[in-house]
Amino acid sequence: MGDLKTKRLKIIITGANGQLGRCFQDIAEHYQDYDFHFKTSKDLNITRKDQIDSLFAREKFDYCINCAAYTAVDQAETDQENAFLVNAEAVKFLAEACKVQNTILIQISTDFVFDGSKTTPYTEESIPNPINVYGASKLKGEQNVQEILENYFIIRTSWVYSEYGHNFVKTMLRLGAEREEINVVDDQIGSPTYAGDLADAILKIISLKATNYGIYHYSNEGAISWCDFAKAIFEIKGINVKVNPISSKAYPTAAKRPVFSVLDVSKINRFMEIHCWKKGLKNV
Ligand SMILES: NC(=O)c1ccc[n+]([C@@H]2O[C@H](COP(=O)([O-])OP(=O)(O)OC[C@H]3O[C@@H](n4cnc5c(N)ncnc54)[C@H](OP(=O)(O)O)[C@@H]3O)[C@@H](O)[C@H]2O)c1
Repeated sequence: MGDLKTKRLKIIITGANGQLGRCFQDIAEHYQDYDFHFKTSKDLNITRKDQIDSLFAREKFDYCINCAAYTAVDQAETDQENAFLVNAEAVKFLAEACKVQNTILIQISTDFVFDGSKTTPYTEESIPNPINVYGASKLKGEQNVQEILENYFIIRTSWVYSEYGHNFVKTMLRLGAEREEINVVDDQIGSPTYAGDLADAILKIISLKATNYGIYHYSNEGAISWCDFAKAIFEIKGINVKVNPISSKAYPTAAKRPVFSVLDVSKINRFMEIHCWKKGLKNV
């Protein structure tokens, strides 16, 4: 890597059409010091080692922010091979290319690496124990990064939503427009994260030229159930919908979800302010 102090930092963002990728595209104009290279899945399929290697041979990046992922949590249960290909094997290809180029890899991971059996927030030292295929594939991706690289940030986040793609907030707004009453699970507790806040946090790490590499947890502050989150969405939008709390048992899904996946964000909070989940939601 060149001299980070003087030159315009060159940053590649994979999975640029996903929620997080699109939020990076939105805020890129505020970071004129950075030379962003946005790559959608069509521009760069991260499961294709040949595509990664030829791109990295042509261009030298200071940072690679990997927003590409297989995120269909339920589908992953019956599509294990593809989930592991994108979330683990392809991450290895990226890490190997980053090693050759001395590129700092920022890999996004998930609260779903934990089993949810704790009752206090998960720290970076908590032992992962995924209970579904998606979580296992993301954990394997983390391990691949750690085995190959020294200069990496693994950012675990949770309950991501944004203006883009498929997410809980958009689903609730759609259902809220169609129905007078909806049932939402109230026995899974986590921390919603606005993808735009996460994108800002990652660029903050870069702007600080942080070298304390390793795993960091980032979510918006505060812990709630999906049911309370739904109520807050309708309250903010002024939509009159009755929200009935139900148990996860009444809403079976292919993949098991951790009942408690709140992340302890105090490590990253030393470097930056973190918005409360309600502020993130109001911003959207
Ligand atoms: N969403 C959540 O609730 C959540 C929670 C915790 C952690 N995370 C993590 O946060 C990160 C960002 O998630 P997100 O919500 O932004 O995901 P997303 O909206 O599903 O976007 C993922 C992107 O990855 C792309 N992609 C998939 N396979 C690819 C491949 N082989 N090569 C290149 N690109 C590929 C997709 O391309 P297409 O546009 O072609 O589909 C999509 O644009 C992921 O690492 C995810 O695991 C998400």
